[in-house]
Amino acid sequence: MTYAPEVRERLERDAKEIIGKYPKTRSALLPLLHLVQSEDGYVSDDGHEFCAEMLGISKAEVVGVSTFYTMYKRKPMGEYHVGVCINALCAVMGGDEIWDELSEHVGVGHDEATADGKISLERLECNAACDFAPVMMVNWEFFDNQTPQSAKQLVDDLRDGKSVSPTRGPSKLCSFKQASRVLSGLPDDLAGDGPSAAGASLEGLKVAKANGWKAPEA
Ligand code: FES
Repeated sequence: MTYAPEVRERLERDAKEIIGKYPKTRSALLPLLHLVQSEDGYVSDDGHEFCAEMLGISKAEVVGVSTFYTMYKRKPMGEYHVGVCINALCAVMGGDEIWDELSEHVGVGHDEATADGKISLERLECNAACDFAPVMMVNWEFFDNQTPQSAKQLVDDLRDGKSVSPTRGPSKLCSFKQASRVLSGLPDDLAGDGPSAAGASLEGLKVAKANGWKAPEA
């Protein structure tokens, strides 16, 4: 199977815009992998070939990169890709219980999608959001301070088509494919939308300011 002519034409147009941002063509490989993922919901064989052709490198080089990074998927993910952080801090704060209960509730495991294509799950490594542990992400937007119950409610709401807002970032979730398109470097102009990290993230800064502490001179 290859991309239909109109899809190929659109992808080429987008790929050229992305490649134009880099001094060396091959440097655009990571964003191009997100671009093809935005088309198929994963990095398909066609996607690998497309990247190789656009960048003038071998398909083996493309596959070598795409199979290294966990954000590039080898099979279709759900419309809502739900990650549960199971790294040390989130795990001890309840991330392991969230994963166990959520996986059983949804009926799929790591990097697997439900039969209706709505939800996929991933065991995530640290999202650098430990101050809000245990943390989950849906299509890479943060859901802070979760519990097994809130996690199950979240996926039920997503499956029921209810409006769901991340703790931080845009008030409305986009799909996994749309999120992949943004990650390719084609913005949706929502980068500054919604609340950003605050509260617990700023406690250390407040203490430093109160004590007059500064970063050491370089
Ligand atoms: S351990 Fe979960 S965000 Fe850092």
